[in-house]
Amino acid sequence: MSEKVISDYNGYDYKKDFWENTGREYEDQADRMAIRKLLPKRMEKFADIGGGYGRLATEYLKRAHKVYIFDYSKSELKQAKDIYGDKVETRAGDIYKLPFKDDELDGLMMVRVTHHLKHLDQAITELYRVLKPGGVAVIEVANKRTLPKMARFITGRSKVNPFDKKVANYKDISKDGFYNYHPKYVEEIFDKTGFTTEKVLSVSNFRNKGLKKIFGTENLVKMEESAQQVLAPVRFAPSIYYKLRKPEE
Ligand SMILES: C[S@@+](CC[C@H](N)C(=O)[O-])C[C@H]1O[C@@H](n2cnc3c(N)ncnc32)[C@H](O)[C@@H]1O
Repeated sequence: MSEKVISDYNGYDYKKDFWENTGREYEDQADRMAIRKLLPKRMEKFADIGGGYGRLATEYLKRAHKVYIFDYSKSELKQAKDIYGDKVETRAGDIYKLPFKDDELDGLMMVRVTHHLKHLDQAITELYRVLKPGGVAVIEVANKRTLPKMARFITGRSKVNPFDKKVANYKDISKDGFYNYHPKYVEEIFDKTGFTTEKVLSVSNFRNKGLKKIFGTENLVKMEESAQQVLAPVRFAPSIYYKLRKPEE
């Protein structure tokens, strides 16, 4: 098997450095809005894959009887445990080899993780394996085919072709770089793995400093509410959310 990249969040305070007082309330609200629309109301066993410190836990704690937060980073998981205590069970490991049995979970989500995954197909196969037939996976994908990326390519400011289905690998986020995916490429993986796509949402449609200044977070969140569904068919947003189901046998 080819080499895997794990983006190491150990020792990085993702909560404080990425989310607190960093002007990302709109993005946080946009994620939550999508998750509320896509996650089943009641689940027995649910896992937040690459869940970090459990930023989004308040969206699923009431929906599931048993909640796991799974992540590679032990420092993120410790933070999750400090915040949620017995409400969650934390499990450490690598997405490419999940510590869950075949057909064990009836729900899972994976949000803001695909940009760290070099081998998305292998990760999706692993998510499929641990889901029960009939189970639901909510997966957020970092989109390479956004309007700003199209504009940068067409005007010659970027060499990354957003229309090309090939994975885009950017080098500058960390030593490992990060990955953006073309919606068609991802959807082919979902189909090939065996998932049925039940719903798609276009998320963080107005992720832009200028728009935040002009409209303010509150108004952007209101605009986002209808845009997630209306703009889903074009798939131009930086985040595309998928509600997938593993078919019943
Ligand atoms: C950007 S954070 C997202 C956290 C959370 N899902 C959220 O939206 O707030 C990405 C998380 O994925 C985890 N991660 C990245 N690659 C991983 C891998 N191969 N196996 C397990 N976790 C991984 C990181 O440790 C980090 O906590």
